[in-house]
Amino acid sequence: MATKPEHAPILAKLAELLRRVRQAAALTGAGVSHESGIPTFRGPGGLWRNFRPEELATPQAFARDPRLVWEWYDWRRGLISQAWPNPGHEALAALEGLVPDFTLITQNVDGLHTLAGSRRVLEVHGSIWEVRCTACGQVKADRRVPIPIPPYCNSCGGLLRPNVVWFGEGLAADVLDAVQHALKQAQVLLVVGTSAVVQPAASFALWAKQWGAKLAEINPEPTPLTPHCDFVLTGKSGEVLPGLAAELAFSQAHGPDPSKKSP
Ligand code: OAD
Repeated sequence: MATKPEHAPILAKLAELLRRVRQAAALTGAGVSHESGIPTFRGPGGLWRNFRPEELATPQAFARDPRLVWEWYDWRRGLISQAWPNPGHEALAALEGLVPDFTLITQNVDGLHTLAGSRRVLEVHGSIWEVRCTACGQVKADRRVPIPIPPYCNSCGGLLRPNVVWFGEGLAADVLDAVQHALKQAQVLLVVGTSAVVQPAASFALWAKQWGAKLAEINPEPTPLTPHCDFVLTGKSGEVLPGLAAELAFSQAHGPDPSKKSP
């Protein structure tokens, strides 16, 4: 995928910055998996049976109607099981190999970053491929598609729920600690494919900025974070990120490309 001409000078500057830093991080959202065929939550095709995620991804919705919530997750598990990482996921995995200390923080529960080869991944909203027993608390990997609805725990017979974070629930304390550590260290934070409206992840970029990181946003649409970003690359992650990884790999091998220097 060729780099758009308007992106070239920004990519060159961002790659040059990344070449000089030791620590960087990325925060990703549903947009990074869109080119893998997985609908975003707030974009076209994201609504399932006209429910907004805020109506289904809550402990209250699950207590009221576990079958309905599981039908939504089963639909999403079906879509994700057919999906493969796209060039955006692959470029983020490549960046981990190019920056000495690179942490990927994702709101996505689909597991595609790991499938693409990223190793240091913090899944702040959990994993759609794990279930947790509401009675005994046991967490297990579960890749059944379709999953029996509702599913029950093999050990104690309790009702299983997806091991994800719902609206109104807190992030796991150890994950939040690791996120804060990564954001404090990061000299650059890439913010990729998130509408930046769901807390606390929506605040991560501003924390990082306050702790000294430069922010680079990759998204086809502006978000509430756009005005705070030092680099704005308006485009799809699968088109922009491979150019960034290639530029960084080139400049590490040869030094910055003088033909790409801005005047
Ligand atoms: P959203 O659906 O809110 O936002 C997706 C973002 O991706 C939008 O800003 C799009 O412009 C952008 N986008 C679309 N296609 C893209 C592409 N090809 N490349 C890059 N960006 C693209 O998804 P999130 O911000 O991830 O939480 O949503 C956050 C949380 O809300 C989710 O983790 C989930 C949801 O409810 C829970 O379920 C708790």
